[in-house]
Amino acid sequence: MARQVAAEGGRLILVDWDGTSLEAARAAVADSGADVRSVVGDVSEESTAKAAVGHARSEFGRLDVLFNNAGIDPLPARSVIETEVADWDRILDVNVRSAFLMSRAAIPLMRESGGGSIVNTASIAGLKPAGEEAAYSVSKAAMVSLTGTLALDFAVDGIRANCICPGFMEKVMTDRRRDLTEAEQQARAAGAAARVPLGRQGTYEEVARAVLFLAGSDASYVTGATLVVDGGLLLR
Ligand SMILES: NC(=O)c1ccc[n+]([C@@H]2O[C@H](COP(=O)([O-])OP(=O)(O)OC[C@H]3O[C@@H](n4cnc5c(N)ncnc54)[C@H](O)[C@@H]3O)[C@@H](O)[C@H]2O)c1
Repeated sequence: MARQVAAEGGRLILVDWDGTSLEAARAAVADSGADVRSVVGDVSEESTAKAAVGHARSEFGRLDVLFNNAGIDPLPARSVIETEVADWDRILDVNVRSAFLMSRAAIPLMRESGGGSIVNTASIAGLKPAGEEAAYSVSKAAMVSLTGTLALDFAVDGIRANCICPGFMEKVMTDRRRDLTEAEQQARAAGAAARVPLGRQGTYEEVARAVLFLAGSDASYVTGATLVVDGGLLLR
């Protein structure tokens, strides 16, 4: 997503709590000539949202797009009785509280900028609950709902809010990958190829193109929408 925004001439502030990966991403995008900054922080904490938006204000003087994409889906948190209370809270905090906090910090600056666009990453698990992923499914359904409330409440300010619902992406999420063997990851890819109508997993670039569409002026009359980017999997 950052690469595609940079290619369109956008200035960026990347946020992640993994400082090493964040710096690698920042440097790679900066190599293309883009103006890109970074803020290391946990997105479930208000201080991170304030730091990121404060940076946008001081460095760029405006904020046009907020993309809430960070998320976790820890493998041990399966059905309700298999989910530790701390994991439930953590998943909701990282996947939803983060978007609430970021939006809360960003909207005043977007208003001053004459409007803006918020894109939230939900999941098809937020539209059709996934088995063995109770907290994750609930968190993604909440993202769909949060998107609608943002769209309703801030349309008057020229702020649009939309969400994307990816299906099987090319990689298992980082926090799950740690707990899955290489063979299990390959089995996931094969399972996706068999189940997805388009016959394969999606690429991150394909999701990023959908996010760019929602973020930009081509979607000027689109707000409160849920764009499913899943190769048809939800239809199964
Ligand atoms: N991979 C998939 O198959 C898939 C499918 C549907 C939806 N999604 C959603 O897409 C989004 C991106 O997932 P991904 O596949 O790129 O996973 P990823 O693990 O590669 O990326 C998630 C990023 O969020 C960061 N992050 C996690 N917790 C954080 C925190 N508390 N503070 C700051 N940063 C934090 C991680 O360090 C990582 O860089 C997530 O919201 C995920 O739920 C992924």
